[in-house]
Amino acid sequence: MNKNGRAAVTGCWESEKCTQLKQELARSTGVYKRIWVSLRDKMEQMRQSTCGEIKTSVLGFGCGSVLGRVGRTASLHAMKVAWDAGITLFDSARSYGYGDAEAVLGEFLLGKRDQAVVATKFGITPVRPSALKRAAIPAVRAAIHVPGVRGLLRRESKRDVMPGHFTVAGLRASLESSLRQLRTDRVDVLFLHEATASAIQQQDLMAELDALIQAGKVLRVGLYAGVDVIDEAIANGPSTLGAMQFGANPFDPLVAKLAERNERAMLLIANHPFGSKVRVAQIRMALAAMAAEKMVPAELRDKLRHLDWQVLLEAILGLVLNGSGMHALVFSMMREDHLRANARAVESNRFTSADLALMRQRLLNSQRVPARTN
Ligand SMILES: NC(=O)c1ccc[n+]([C@@H]2O[C@H](COP(=O)([O-])OP(=O)(O)OC[C@H]3O[C@@H](n4cnc5c(N)ncnc54)[C@H](OP(=O)(O)O)[C@@H]3O)[C@@H](O)[C@H]2O)c1
Repeated sequence: MNKNGRAAVTGCWESEKCTQLKQELARSTGVYKRIWVSLRDKMEQMRQSTCGEIKTSVLGFGCGSVLGRVGRTASLHAMKVAWDAGITLFDSARSYGYGDAEAVLGEFLLGKRDQAVVATKFGITPVRPSALKRAAIPAVRAAIHVPGVRGLLRRESKRDVMPGHFTVAGLRASLESSLRQLRTDRVDVLFLHEATASAIQQQDLMAELDALIQAGKVLRVGLYAGVDVIDEAIANGPSTLGAMQFGANPFDPLVAKLAERNERAMLLIANHPFGSKVRVAQIRMALAAMAAEKMVPAELRDKLRHLDWQVLLEAILGLVLNGSGMHALVFSMMREDHLRANARAVESNRFTSADLALMRQRLLNSQRVPARTN
């Protein structure tokens, strides 16, 4: 033993008794850890919805900002936070992230693919940015909070795509790239990106999409389009179509009717729930007016009295997802606090179905708002 008693301590630490104690401790720590992980998984089990063979979390992670507004490391982190919160639906596109967003998603989904629902899109071809532009992207991202920079990035990324490539050859090439980048042998939903009414009249394209479904490379085919195209396709579109994605505008009477017209049980995915700042302000105004109306049930008036962001968020997400016939809502949630707030608003929403039905009716009847702002 030295002056400080170190040898004695080391000796005791390595004694048989102490080794047994350490093993015991490790075993019980392992047990507690497993109990904690399973409890946490149960607590964080996000609400699910089922449409035929597809089971998905009702909240979906939109990959529109991956490798655009947000870099690779932050994107992978956001995906992990989403996954840990129980989100299983990931919505990407061939064109996102200058053509590389799917690769980031594919990397993230390694070892998880079978538990995830992967949606992607074809029809908008990404254009590779010049070396100069590529070099400038990190600096632009770093300045994202400077007024005007976000809009600039959005406009620039729109310029780096070629829309409307709905050809059989284009479809084949695009899907092969998607599968390669996503590191999978199938996508769950393949959307025609910004589909026009004429795209779904192309019989050769629909036949090829049917063939891809038969081959098991695609589970469902759908449209991402304006609501008028979606509305027509739900009622009269070819049987190839099994899914629709569109802007979740609660002021739009066509959006409100989609679910009751959905006789063929298509998977309905809403996106872009806030629309614009103007739309959010209009929703706030309409709900504030309800809080002051005697005709509105007192309990609902109470809930609307203090319209802070959490209340507004629960109202908006509730309107999109509850009693609307929508299966899921995808949107950008790159910030962890956004994701957690959204998960909370979905999991424990203060508004009842009756509240939301009344609020939906009021927004639809609202005269102040232009018909469509998506
Ligand atoms: N909008 C379109 O035209 C379009 C077209 C095709 C497909 N999509 C799909 O829909 C997804 C979403 O589209 P989008 O990005 O245009 O949606 P969005 O509704 O415009 O984006 C959501 C915005 O709100 C923020 N946000 C999210 N949760 C919030 C919260 N609780 N409180 C405050 N802010 C919050 C997000 O910030 P952070 O991301 O920084 O957290 C993001 O800036 C796309 O990624 C894509 O998958 C959209």
